Amino acid sequence: MILASKAFEIDIGAFVIKERQNIDAIAAGAKHLYPANIEAFAPEDEHKRIYVTQPGLPPLNEFVHYLEDIWQSKILTNNGKYHQLLEKELSEYLGVKYVSLFSNGTLALITALQALRITGEVITTPYSFVATTHALNWNGIKPVFVDIDPVYCNLDANKIEAAITPKTTAVLPVHVYGNPCDVNKIQQISDTYGLKIIYDACHAFNVKLKDTSVLNFGDLSILSFHATKVFTTFEGGAIICNDEKTKKRIDFLKNFGFADEVTVVGPGINAKMSEFQAAMGLLQLKYVDQYLAERKQIADTYKIELSNVDGIRFLENMKEVTHNYSYFPIFIDQRKYGLDRDAVYNKFKENNIYARRYFYPLISQFPTYKQLESSAKGNLKTAEKIAKEVLCIPIYPGLLQNDQQKIIDILRRD
Ligand SMILES: Cc1ncc(COP(=O)(O)O)c(C=O)c1O
Repeated sequence: MILASKAFEIDIGAFVIKERQNIDAIAAGAKHLYPANIEAFAPEDEHKRIYVTQPGLPPLNEFVHYLEDIWQSKILTNNGKYHQLLEKELSEYLGVKYVSLFSNGTLALITALQALRITGEVITTPYSFVATTHALNWNGIKPVFVDIDPVYCNLDANKIEAAITPKTTAVLPVHVYGNPCDVNKIQQISDTYGLKIIYDACHAFNVKLKDTSVLNFGDLSILSFHATKVFTTFEGGAIICNDEKTKKRIDFLKNFGFADEVTVVGPGINAKMSEFQAAMGLLQLKYVDQYLAERKQIADTYKIELSNVDGIRFLENMKEVTHNYSYFPIFIDQRKYGLDRDAVYNKFKENNIYARRYFYPLISQFPTYKQLESSAKGNLKTAEKIAKEVLCIPIYPGLLQNDQQKIIDILRRD
């Protein structure tokens, strides 16, 4: 027995040394350690492509330290120390009371609706990523689409009241592109009609209204830490809440409903963030201010360079808001610009620039939702118009000046 365990220790020791060598070699770019056929899975011209976004990635060797520690602890998930630390550090960084980490934003949305026991009908926007409405669908809730405001593209607060029925239990607005919704008006309506508010704040990491985080409004706010977001944990997400009891309930629900080893308090799900994701988040937190500053600089340049282009509109900063510049949408007026949005989208593509039409088509146009009364044409006129005009152009830390100039030149048709 002693001999066996000794042998095991020696093996593990050798394993750790070998892994250390592998990690060093990978960090040094030793391609022979990658799976043999991995390159076959990448597009041939990938290195030339300019995507709408790219993650800010800290130096790899810094992440390796976290990996080594996780390897040694053998705690890979289930509320490990990195998970706990990231919840604490994020709540301090964002200026919010409670953060509950999730494996992605969609599961955070689905769980948020469960946590508040939302049923019946929920008023929401058709102008978002499809996961916003899917989260309602997965809970058996009927989405009721309301049109958007023509400038910042958020749910039009002035149109919410007309959509309320006896079955309405909540509002699910989205801070689209990270620009805050009319939070005061939405709160006032919700107070009057007794509705809950869950903000899809997946674009709104570190956005502030006056001096407070936009995540502090409403009952719950949902973040996504997907690779395309300003702060990423590969995949990931969070629910932000204001009181300990709700945080506890959310934590039970994301872990199958377990309150302790033998008590299951409800039909929970598995939506836990792993230690690898949490470690990535801790590392990202060290660099995120730098990433945000780079984004602002790129946005400022676009605004200067595109300000005189007839037929192209972009979003001005909002009063008293600290933005995160997570997206740079432009809106193309074909009559003035001479080309329609899709022509510009294709022109970019021909130049290896992958701009994206966020958000086209509208969620209300997808087969699952098309038959809803609120999807009917006349109901969502502004959203329909904007969806035809919008194009999000590349913005991310590390976007080269040359590449930014290329994007500007294409739009200015210099
Ligand atoms: C507005 C919005 N809601 C929800 C999601 C879903 O988040 P995730 O991809 O982390 O599941 C995303 C993005 O991915 C999003 O942009």
